[in-house]
Amino acid sequence: MGKIIVIYHSQQYGNTRMLAEALAEGAREAGAEVNLINTNERRVTLEEFLSADGVAIGTPDYFSYVAGTVKTFFDDIYQWDQSGKPVKGKPAVLFFSCGGGGKVRQPFESLAQRFFQQVGETVGSERPISNEAKKKCLALGKELVKNLSKRASKK
Ligand SMILES: Cc1cc2nc3c(=O)[nH]c(=O)nc-3n(C[C@H](O)[C@H](O)[C@H](O)COP(=O)(O)O)c2cc1C
Repeated sequence: MGKIIVIYHSQQYGNTRMLAEALAEGAREAGAEVNLINTNERRVTLEEFLSADGVAIGTPDYFSYVAGTVKTFFDDIYQWDQSGKPVKGKPAVLFFSCGGGGKVRQPFESLAQRFFQQVGETVGSERPISNEAKKKCLALGKELVKNLSKRASKK
């Protein structure tokens, strides 16, 4: 039930990709159709963004901030919003990987708050990515789908 888009940047070791895949697995197990996009490979289009009922966003910690391509994604949403597209208010879950600092959490959450309704707690993991972190992402994927079902039943 429902469409989830998992938008993430992964480049250095594939750490953020591992978290994205665990999250996608959880969302699929909960019955959602899932589209995964690595923003290091391509940009997210307005059409695919609008077609999603829920969003998962993942980034590595780069200099205590989100990766450049994830920032570009937020910049795109801002401009879509400015041009009157209905991009605001989707439920979203957040996850990140880091080398140790993990200071990306605060700027990441504050960017997301501008456009999304955050569901659950942000999952952060230092490298190497542990099974525990993957399990947390799997559970977060399920939680996002459950949230979609709740919204649908309220309509
Ligand atoms: C350009 C660059 C900047 C980084 N800056 C930080 C940082 O400020 N804090 C931190 O904890 N890790 C930092 N790291 C480590 C990455 O966040 C970490 O290795 C991450 O898991 C990489 O994700 P990926 O394998 O999905 O690309 C940096 C890595 C790179 C390549």
